[in-house]
Amino acid sequence: MSESFGDTATAESDRTTTGGTTADGPTTAGETDERVREEWTQFSFQGEPKLAVEDLDVYYGDDHALKGVSMDIPSESVTALIGPSGCGKSTFLRSLNRMNDRIKSARVAGSVELDGEEIYGSGTDLVELRKRVGMVFQAPNPFPKSIRENVSYGPRKHGDIDKSLLARLTGRDDSEAERELVERSLKQAALWDEVNDRLDDNALGLSGGQQQRLCIARCLAVDPDVILMDEPASALDPVATSKIEDLVEELAEDYTVVVVTHNMQQAARISDQTAVFLTGGELVEYDDTEKIFENPESQRVEDYVSGKFG
Ligand SMILES: Nc1ncnc2c1ncn2[C@@H]1O[C@H](COP(=O)(O)OP(=O)(O)OP(=O)(O)O)[C@@H](O)[C@H]1O
Ligand SMILES: [Mg+2]
Repeated sequence: MSESFGDTATAESDRTTTGGTTADGPTTAGETDERVREEWTQFSFQGEPKLAVEDLDVYYGDDHALKGVSMDIPSESVTALIGPSGCGKSTFLRSLNRMNDRIKSARVAGSVELDGEEIYGSGTDLVELRKRVGMVFQAPNPFPKSIRENVSYGPRKHGDIDKSLLARLTGRDDSEAERELVERSLKQAALWDEVNDRLDDNALGLSGGQQQRLCIARCLAVDPDVILMDEPASALDPVATSKIEDLVEELAEDYTVVVVTHNMQQAARISDQTAVFLTGGELVEYDDTEKIFENPESQRVEDYVSGKFG
């Protein structure tokens, strides 16, 4: 067991006292001109971090979208990322499984460790990384295939399930394993009861909320450690949203969930700890969710969570 952060004050935080927390009053954006204090983002917890982010910068061309973000994420819990539009939440989330690699103009500097291993090394197997760190997007994006195939696609691609002609001819066909996997994943995603009688129907015939749970099932089917979710419920109605919220809380018993949301109540309801990013791509405060919502250190965070701006 080790505490993940030291508690020594740094020169960096001394610098911040000169700006004062509220001395300069609100800016045109409605934010107070306070400086970020390093200790506000030093969230301590028991055990080793699942993900350890150190001094992460992300640039899109000349645009500096994330600035020196350091943040340790505990395992088997829900971490919420909140902040106004454009503050870098999606950029941060994508940096956790190197999805930013797919964006031509993006450049990443700094370090991200998964279970103590650097993911930004040149030797990282990106397919394996994204299997361990899965992602669910804002808009449900099932493949235009059957419900069953959507779930089994990943394991088949990774070679965990083989239904090829050769496999069939040699008696090593994995149809039974596939059936079990599809059932388990759909149950985990709280969708099984609604679709078990139509697994061969096209997934695009499902409702939006069902499609999103199918995408979660697809993500779970490859047995990840970490699930990244970028506003997974923002396109859904209140009933479907509450199903996703319940599901996220349940998943955190076995998985490490990192979820971006614009919905303060949702972050407060479902997360264990909350990281607040504010305009300019800085992580401003990171702590227990209750602390962030009830008694944050930063005036800007206080203004943001109480709805004064953003
Ligand atoms: N593919 C891209 N190419 C160029 N710039 C980008 C790209 N993606 C994001 N950016 C820029 O990086 C900054 C952070 O964007 P990001 O999408 O991470 O914000 P966000 O917090 O997720 O916002 P939102 O809440 O609106 O989804 C913004 O200034 C955005 O314009
Ligand atoms: Mg976003």
